[in-house]
Amino acid sequence: MRTQVAIIGGGPSGLLLSQLLHQRGIDSVVLERKTREYVLGRIRAGVLEVGFVNLMREAGVAERMDRECFIHDGTVISRDNLSFGINFKELTGSHVVVYGQTEVTRDLYDAREAAGGKIVYEVDGVEIHGADGDAPYVTYHKDGAEQRIDCDFVAGCDGFHGVSRQSIPLSVRREYEKLYPFGWLGILSETPPVNDELIYASSERGFALCSMRNENLSRYYIQCSLSDSPEDWTDAAFWEELKRRIPEEAAERLVTGPSVEKSIAPLRSFVTEPMRWGRLFLCGDAAHIVPPTGAKGLNTAASDIHYLYHGLVQHYQDGEDEGIERYSERALARIWKAERFSWWMTTLLHRFPDQSAFDLRIQAAEVAFLRENRAAQTVLAENYVGLPY
Ligand code: FAD
Ligand code: DHB
Repeated sequence: MRTQVAIIGGGPSGLLLSQLLHQRGIDSVVLERKTREYVLGRIRAGVLEVGFVNLMREAGVAERMDRECFIHDGTVISRDNLSFGINFKELTGSHVVVYGQTEVTRDLYDAREAAGGKIVYEVDGVEIHGADGDAPYVTYHKDGAEQRIDCDFVAGCDGFHGVSRQSIPLSVRREYEKLYPFGWLGILSETPPVNDELIYASSERGFALCSMRNENLSRYYIQCSLSDSPEDWTDAAFWEELKRRIPEEAAERLVTGPSVEKSIAPLRSFVTEPMRWGRLFLCGDAAHIVPPTGAKGLNTAASDIHYLYHGLVQHYQDGEDEGIERYSERALARIWKAERFSWWMTTLLHRFPDQSAFDLRIQAAEVAFLRENRAAQTVLAENYVGLPY
């Protein structure tokens, strides 16, 4: 088989790139290790930057999102029962959009399938060859038989555990990592959200987040120990703990119910450099991870796709390679700012096992300063709604 762009990974990054390229007449094939149902079963991000929404529009897949999403003009932050709002609209003129990653991915799959796009599911043994030369190709196994795709470029959109990053030689690759000494236990429940804006809550028992997907689907998270497993937490224990961490008036209003999903995610900051090696480009979680505080994971994946898509369009339409040559530099410049913001939000709002009494006072002072100071709020708001591409 031959295509212009071989895309490894059928998560949001790979599908969005494939759909955008299709709109410009550029052919691609997506190779996905799992089934479509498996990918759609993963509950992940829920908050989208306007830049992401605009890319979905450019890809021609925003119709249902524009109809069903929720615009959030601000968010609530609380510490020890004292809460205050950050008004994105007033501070930046912008907002964020609540629409789940599951729905984004479903819309992209539907669009690719409607356009006759090539997605090969349940592949294994994917290998990238000749990325540093002029004729790269990808091999993989499907139903026991080895297959080969010849291509012009390879987009590595295969997440943190994929093969693409590992295909860049260690002599070229540099990795930067920070692990946090806790995780997030998340549940999804078919209950009305406790608040019409998200609540990021810092308490002496640890961090909690109240989020949502729609009027009758709520997403809640609590900071937990890395040694916990979801089975350790009954629904009743989860709700009790959540109520102790969020402002009292929210705890009183909270509607509880059975969880329909429960999972634990470790928190990590990670960046690999460079994001391009010859004709191989890394995008999204394949290249970088942020801790989820600040909702930047999926949004940083989208900005990579923006830079790569424009670079590839420039190559095919204008015969100009400046965009692909500077892909890594441009993507990383934005990524590191999102890394900084996510690290800062995480540090501001979580309890760390080794925090001293001094550290706690400093953390409390920083939240108090944010509550009182418009300039500090503006910095948070500008980062939260998304820095320009
Ligand atoms: P992925 O979504 O990981 O997609 C990669 C795809 O590649 C997968 O479908 C995978 O099956 C496939 N793949 C992997 N290896 C191979 C291979 N060898 N061959 C072929 N295919 C392969 N972000 C937020 O903003 N908010 C959140 O609340 C949030 N929660 C998260 C919870 C968890 C448990 C995780 C892991 C991430 C979370 N994120 C969150 C981050 C966000 O979901 C990711 O940033 C986003 O999914 C990145 O998209 P991606 O397409 O780059 O990678
Ligand atoms: C969600 C997750 C986040 O990490 C975040 O900061 C905001 C919302 C969510 O899953 O809804």
